[in-house]
Amino acid sequence: MKSNDQWSSRFGFILASAGSAIGLGALWKFPYMAGTNGGGAFFLIFLLFTFLVGAPMLLAEFVIGRHSQQNAVSSYEKISGNPSWKWLGYLGVIASFIILSFYSVIGGWVITYLVRSFSGSLTGLPNSRYEQLFGDIIGSPATSLLTQALFLAITVAIVQFGIQKGIETASRYMMPALFVLFLVLVVRSLSLDGAMEGVAFFLQPDLSKLTAEGVLDALGQSFFALSVGISLMVTYSSYLDKSANLTGSVISVVGLNVLISFLAGLAIFPAVFAFGFEPTEGPGLIFTVLPAVFNQMALGGLFFTVFMALLLFATLTSAFSLMEIIVSTVTRGADNRKKVSWIAGLFVFVLGIPSALSFGVLADVSVFGRSIFDMMDFLASNLLMPIGALLISIFVSKKMKRTILESEVMMSSKAGQVIFPLWYGLIRFVVPAAIIIVLITSLLSY
Ligand code: PFF
Repeated sequence: MKSNDQWSSRFGFILASAGSAIGLGALWKFPYMAGTNGGGAFFLIFLLFTFLVGAPMLLAEFVIGRHSQQNAVSSYEKISGNPSWKWLGYLGVIASFIILSFYSVIGGWVITYLVRSFSGSLTGLPNSRYEQLFGDIIGSPATSLLTQALFLAITVAIVQFGIQKGIETASRYMMPALFVLFLVLVVRSLSLDGAMEGVAFFLQPDLSKLTAEGVLDALGQSFFALSVGISLMVTYSSYLDKSANLTGSVISVVGLNVLISFLAGLAIFPAVFAFGFEPTEGPGLIFTVLPAVFNQMALGGLFFTVFMALLLFATLTSAFSLMEIIVSTVTRGADNRKKVSWIAGLFVFVLGIPSALSFGVLADVSVFGRSIFDMMDFLASNLLMPIGALLISIFVSKKMKRTILESEVMMSSKAGQVIFPLWYGLIRFVVPAAIIIVLITSLLSY
C-alpha cells in the first residue's frame, strides 16, 4: 500500500470517519424526520437503533476493512474466498451513487443559503417569509441544478487529490467550530419565549404517535447518520494499521453523532414552537426555522453566514466519503483517479437531476406515493442500507472466524475486551433480527 493511503494518525481517521458520519443526516434529516414522526418517540427509537444496531454495524465494518486492508469489493471476496460476496461491495457503490445524487441537491441548497446569507438577503425578514423564500429557492430549476453541480464540482475537485490531503486536513478545524456555533444556537433557541413546548415535543416520547413506517425511518436514519450499511466504513478502515483502536473510534463517532443530533433537535424544536412553525414541515425544516432563530441574535446575520459555511463543510466531508468509495472501487489502485472522479461526478449529477427538480417542475410526479426526492432517499436509507447491513452482519457471523474478530476488536484496546462478547451477540442475533422484523413489518403495512 502506498504511504499516501495511510491515515497520518488515529485522530485523522476518527476525524474523517466522524466527518463522513456527521453531516446533513444529523443536522438536516434528523430534525425533520423527528418532526414528522412524532418527536420524542422517534428520538427514543432512533437512539435504540443507533446503540443496538448502528454502532455494532460500524464496528463490524471497521473490523472487515482493517482485517482485509482492501476496499469493500475486494474485502468480501478476499475474506470469504467466494467471488459472489463482492456484490455486497458493489451494492454499497450503487447506494453511494444514489445517496450522493440527492445529498448533493441539499448541498446545493446549503450553498444558496450561504450566498444569500452573505449578501444579507436572509436577515431581518418576518418569520412568515422564510417558508415562502425557501419554496422559491428550491422551486427554481436553474438555481437547484446549478448549485447541485457546484457542490459536486467542489467534492470532485477535492477527492481527486486522494484521501489524506483531501479529507483529513480539512476535517481537523471545521468540525469543532461547527460544534461551538451549534451550542450558541441551542442556548438562543432554548431562551425563546415558549421554548419549553418544543423541548417537550422533542424529549417526551409519545409512543402512540409512532407508525411502522416511522420505525423504519428511525432504523434508516440510524444507518444514514452513521454512514453504515453500504461498506463505506470498510473502505475507510482499510487504510488503518494494526495499532488503531477500533472500539475507541466507534465510541467517538457514535457519541459525536448522537450528541450533534440531540443538539440539532434542541436548536430546532424550541424555535419551531416559539415561532409557530410546523414540526411536520419536511425537508425544508431547518432552512425555514434557523434563519428565524439567527434573526433573534445580536450579529445574527454574521453568525448565520458562518453557520452556513460550517454546515457546507460538514456536508462536503460526508460527500467526500461517498465519492471516495466510488472512486476507490473504480480505480482499484490504477493511476486514473482524476479522470474517474470527474466522470463519477458527472454520473451522480445526471442521476440527481430528477431529485433536484422534484421540488419544482417535477413536484407533481409521485412514485409509490412519494416525490422523486423522497423516493431516492427511501430507496437508499430505508431499503439499501438496511439490506446491506443485514448482509454485512451475516457475512461477519458466517464468514469470519470468532478468533479473528476477537483479535481485531481487542487489539490495542482495553475496552475491546469488555465490548467484544456484547458486540458478538448483537451482530449475530440482534442486528439481523431487528432489520428483518422492521423491514417486513413496515413493508407489509404499506
Ligand atoms: N452520514 C452522512 C450524514 O449524516 O450526513 C450521510 C452519509 C454519508 C450516508 C456516507 C451514508 C454514507 F455512506
